[in-house]
Amino acid sequence: MKKKWNVLLLGSGGREHAIAHSILKSPLLDSLKVYPGNGGFDSELVIPPGILGWKPTDKKNFQDYIKGKFDLVIVGPEDPLVAGVADWCKEIHIPCFGPSAYCAQIEGSKDFAKKLMKQANVPTAKHETFSDFDSSWSYVQKQGVPIVIKADGLAAGKGVTVCTELQQAELALKEIFLDQKFGSSGEKVVIEDFLEGEEASVFAICDGEDFILLPTAQDHKRAYDGDKGPNTGGMGAYCPAPIANKLVMDQVSQDIVAPILHIFRTIGQPYVGVLYVGLMIDKNSQVKVVEFNCRFGDPETQAVLQLVEDDLLNIFYQASNGKLKSLPEVKISQDSASIIVLAAEGYPGDYVKNIDLKDFDKARSENDDVIIFHAGTIRSADGNLLSSGGRILGIVNRSKTLAESIDKNYSFLNNRSIPSTFYRKDIGRRAL
Ligand code: AMP
Ligand code: GLY
Repeated sequence: MKKKWNVLLLGSGGREHAIAHSILKSPLLDSLKVYPGNGGFDSELVIPPGILGWKPTDKKNFQDYIKGKFDLVIVGPEDPLVAGVADWCKEIHIPCFGPSAYCAQIEGSKDFAKKLMKQANVPTAKHETFSDFDSSWSYVQKQGVPIVIKADGLAAGKGVTVCTELQQAELALKEIFLDQKFGSSGEKVVIEDFLEGEEASVFAICDGEDFILLPTAQDHKRAYDGDKGPNTGGMGAYCPAPIANKLVMDQVSQDIVAPILHIFRTIGQPYVGVLYVGLMIDKNSQVKVVEFNCRFGDPETQAVLQLVEDDLLNIFYQASNGKLKSLPEVKISQDSASIIVLAAEGYPGDYVKNIDLKDFDKARSENDDVIIFHAGTIRSADGNLLSSGGRILGIVNRSKTLAESIDKNYSFLNNRSIPSTFYRKDIGRRAL
């Protein structure tokens, strides 16, 4: 076996910047390439835009480009996984850290995930699936509110409506079925009971048979303080989450991850990569699954990875080769980590672009307290750092306590004023 690996990392978010930050420290890394990357990556790491893609028509080009060049492909986001990039790698015998298209349906189709949970006896909200407006709307009227309406397919985090009024539900169903707001992702709709409790994200690193649970994080999905405003991809997170006690983690292992991996394995479709378990935890520490994702969460990962003391690249490589068992127990720090997301004014709706970020560029080399992970940033031709996305940067700190970690992040951010941006001021307040 080769001693060092050439690695390709797919994705462009803060999550991928954090993954790169961890694996660049690995003595097992020969070289890293990133596609498409963002303004935070050194330019020599980045494969230029337009070279790779994940539409079915891109398959041959993708395989021709990576063949013989890489020993491992790590996939950050869900889109390439749902499209089948892991299968493309497997066909040309390159290990891939990420599930096959079949397994990625666990995120790509809410109906698939619900059926799987039923089969595996995984605790989750009661649901029904519909494929037209009339029957779904009459079901909602019978059930009453609160109720949750979910477009079946990928919808960039916008496909779920938690309805507290019937009118809201009617509008959501009309948008899905009549306006076809989500295109083919809205051909079916999953309608499920509203769950009460506190949410948490757990990442299981899976090799098809065995798995490792990383410490639990809590995300902040709403745009504004006090959990107000529209849902976003996530405005901040912290780790570990005090709510995830031993009882919670035992349920995640025994009642959720193990049975799901078992079903995939028995049908000859072993699940390799991250299984993201979105939990609702009630006041008695009983858990139910709100959603599965086939990848790491963003921004939770940026905090979680700061607590992993072992070689992340080796963990990914062994998982991708079905060999997690060969690793000793993964060392996890007892510290805490947190991330605050800096977003562009208007996000998650239409947001301001091309915001000048030179203050953060300078701060990167000046500040030891925080790590700055880039998300929606680009470098202009003359080398200036500009915003290009809604979530621009994540400010991350690891400290002995959560209070200290959050404090350090806020003292960094509060000392800077960047026009046309905003961030939540209450990340982690619940845990404190
Ligand atoms: P999902 O994409 O399925 O995670 O849903 C997005 C968000 O909607 C979740 O993070 C929850 O905040 C909320 N949500 C989804 N399903 C439910 C449910 N059954 N009960 C309460 N809230 C839910
Ligand atoms: N932060 C939520 C997600 O990655 O889906």
